[in-house]
Amino acid sequence: MKLTIFAATGGTGRILVDLALAAGHDVTAVARRPRDLPDAVRTVRADMLDDPDLRPALEGADAVFSCLGARNKDEARARTCAKGTEAVIRGMRATGARRLVVISSESMTVVPSPGRPNPPKHDPGEGFILRYLVGGPARKYFLREQYADLGVMEDAVRASGLDWTIARPALLIDRPPKGTYRTAVDRKPKGGFRIARADLAEFLLGCVTRDETVGQAITLNY
Ligand SMILES: NC(=O)c1ccc[n+]([C@@H]2O[C@H](COP(=O)([O-])OP(=O)(O)OC[C@H]3O[C@@H](n4cnc5c(N)ncnc54)[C@H](OP(=O)(O)O)[C@@H]3O)[C@@H](O)[C@H]2O)c1
Repeated sequence: MKLTIFAATGGTGRILVDLALAAGHDVTAVARRPRDLPDAVRTVRADMLDDPDLRPALEGADAVFSCLGARNKDEARARTCAKGTEAVIRGMRATGARRLVVISSESMTVVPSPGRPNPPKHDPGEGFILRYLVGGPARKYFLREQYADLGVMEDAVRASGLDWTIARPALLIDRPPKGTYRTAVDRKPKGGFRIARADLAEFLLGCVTRDETVGQAITLNY
């Protein structure tokens, strides 16, 4: 398959590039500062906040992945994920690419966005600690801008008319893949709170051959 991977230099994006190549796919890697990418990939440079024309990266793509993430609060305030993903969607519409898989966050099961102002107040997968001691303060204070960015991104993806999947991982860790993890649609699998980027990347790649994941927001944890 012809795959285009945005944010190919990020923690998850870089692993996804290697997995896609190992599976025999034809990979186009998009990055604002391309570096340390395998020779076997076609590289396209694009800063997603510069309203880029992404058609050259998307022409003929069978599936498109966004592993974009705001590296800090300023990048979240600039709406890196929202603006970048909107540019990806425009490019996909222009080129006729249909399949889009993006990374969001597990917290988005309960975080409101302009297009989804009244999500459930509580996620049934969250226990006391996650709900009140970790998730609550993160959503209210520490990661507020990041979640606001992801909320607008999710709205754009849902409204895109494309064949989309939103992956909502738990806390990301850099560990070897376990190969097994739990998933749930529109809620968290009960009790888990982290997942390796390597397992997330494997899930993202698998989405392109699993049609049942189209139109779903899927949370992943161990
Ligand atoms: N960290 C967690 O525990 C956690 C938990 C749940 C969900 N998430 C979400 O998971 C996603 C992936 O996380 P990650 O840790 O794998 O990613 P990451 O290592 O933080 O990488 C972010 C990627 O986005 C790229 N990027 C940022 N701004 C850009 C711009 N203006 N133009 C082009 N590229 C840009 C970065 O490029 P450079 O390499 O050039 O900086 C990098 O490739 C993020 O959306 C994050 O919010 C994270």
